[in-house]
Amino acid sequence: MSAATPVSSAQGQESGNLLDVENLVVEYPTKVFRGKPFRALTDINITIGRGETLGLVGESGSGKTTLGRAVLGLAPVTKGQVIFEGQDISHASRKDRRALSRDMQVVFQDPYTSLNPALEIGAILAEPLGVQGIPAAAAKKRVAELLDQVGLPKDAVNRLPREFSGGQRQRVAIARALALSPKLIVCDEAVSALDLTTQARVLDLLLQIQLDTGVSYLFISHDLDVVRHISHRVAVMYRGEIVEQGVSGIVTQTPVHPYTQRLLLASPVPDPDRQAVRREERRRLIDSQRELENQASIPA
Ligand SMILES: Nc1ncnc2c1ncn2[C@@H]1O[C@H](COP(=O)(O)OP(=O)(O)OP(=O)(O)O)[C@@H](O)[C@H]1O
Ligand SMILES: [Mg+2]
Repeated sequence: MSAATPVSSAQGQESGNLLDVENLVVEYPTKVFRGKPFRALTDINITIGRGETLGLVGESGSGKTTLGRAVLGLAPVTKGQVIFEGQDISHASRKDRRALSRDMQVVFQDPYTSLNPALEIGAILAEPLGVQGIPAAAAKKRVAELLDQVGLPKDAVNRLPREFSGGQRQRVAIARALALSPKLIVCDEAVSALDLTTQARVLDLLLQIQLDTGVSYLFISHDLDVVRHISHRVAVMYRGEIVEQGVSGIVTQTPVHPYTQRLLLASPVPDPDRQAVRREERRRLIDSQRELENQASIPA
């Protein structure tokens, strides 16, 4: 990657990670005249290695999408740094961002709104290749490779997004993200709209792609079970902060932070008896936390 400024942070430069986010703060301006900006992220530190998946989990509004957008240069970096391959890209120019878009891609929750409904799949997949100046014949070959990679038939090139199921459309979105062989893909709730069986298939596809290409994922989801399935490490976000992070199996099985414990107990298990026990544990946890919060708010 040649874009952007060499990093000033020794940590980022020496880490050898694909991505280092250091002390990141994101504030959104408020619409109110001279109003205080809204702080969506506070002092975020995460890293992603090459070929690694970092799962980012947290409840709605906790700031997961904002973090993904800040990495992609789509949310304002108020303080701190986003370092990609040892280069600070927090304030990369538009030109640098264009170069970076080869290396960083995104897959959103709803492929129906992210895929142009008027374009056939062939044109959708060829678009990023054309933008990077790849000649038509090479692009056509690459499109065929991509369809094969995501398990779609060759004749998909002549079909429109609406002629596919939700899971198939998500495969198209993944193929488009893969077109330029990126190093990092931000998956923002990429399987959340799919039924459980399709979810499992798409997760397996993402795992296979990682094995084949060495791509890294920032995998955002509100579902701890999904995150556990795909991630090497997990970061738990709560009200704009990372409250816990570590190896996937440890964070998701023996969480330390009460919020992660609650999240774990909230994820459903197939056995109704075990589910009832979980529900009871969760209720107890919420009650004890509420009690602690009430005590803390009593003035000394
Ligand atoms: N463009 C914006 N302008 C102002 N505030 C924003 C903007 N985008 C997000 N926010 C606020 O930032 C906070 C975090 O939002 P974000 O979308 O990152 O949460 P999330 O964890 O992705 O939630 P969900 O699981 O519902 O997708 C929310 O309070 C949201 O209202
Ligand atoms: Mg979101």
